Amino acid sequence: MEASRRDFINLAIGGMGAIGALGALYPVVKTLAPSAASLASAKVEIDTSQLQDMQVRVTSWKGKPVFVVKLPEGFSESYDVIKERTNDAGKLNEELLKGQRVFAVVGICTHLGCIPLWAPSGDSDLQKSHHHCPCHGGIYTPWGDVVGGPPPRPLFIPPQKLEGTKLVIGEPGFIKEFV
Ligand code: FES
Repeated sequence: MEASRRDFINLAIGGMGAIGALGALYPVVKTLAPSAASLASAKVEIDTSQLQDMQVRVTSWKGKPVFVVKLPEGFSESYDVIKERTNDAGKLNEELLKGQRVFAVVGICTHLGCIPLWAPSGDSDLQKSHHHCPCHGGIYTPWGDVVGGPPPRPLFIPPQKLEGTKLVIGEPGFIKEFV
């Protein structure tokens, strides 16, 4: 009888401790869980109707800078530079984005994370339009493929789809998943 009462008291104390621990963890878990606002911002819609050929518009998706690029008709065929290094799909970005005149790439250099600059008319490093990372001389094509400098891979590409002139970043379409 005495033993079972002690057991009961021990169980009760253990249970209160567990409830206390859960109570202490709740604010931490609540902080780590994505808020409704951050989930809603997982999708960004850009009206590209006012974007001019060769113009880049900077936006933000999931807290990352994203470049929305618009290229002229037939631009790809005239862009004859050697592109190096492939993305996580084992391809060049240009292959994945082929035929897309309007698309988005993540504006974070894959070397050490600087934000590249858009040089629509080229510069002394490359006499063709490109994204130029000033930190260590990384050079990317408009599609984000590497043509020079230390970046180990192309710029990342978010999932995206085009609805008329509206580019929806964060939803699968002509790019199905983050690569
Ligand atoms: S951070 Fe861009 S080249 Fe180093």
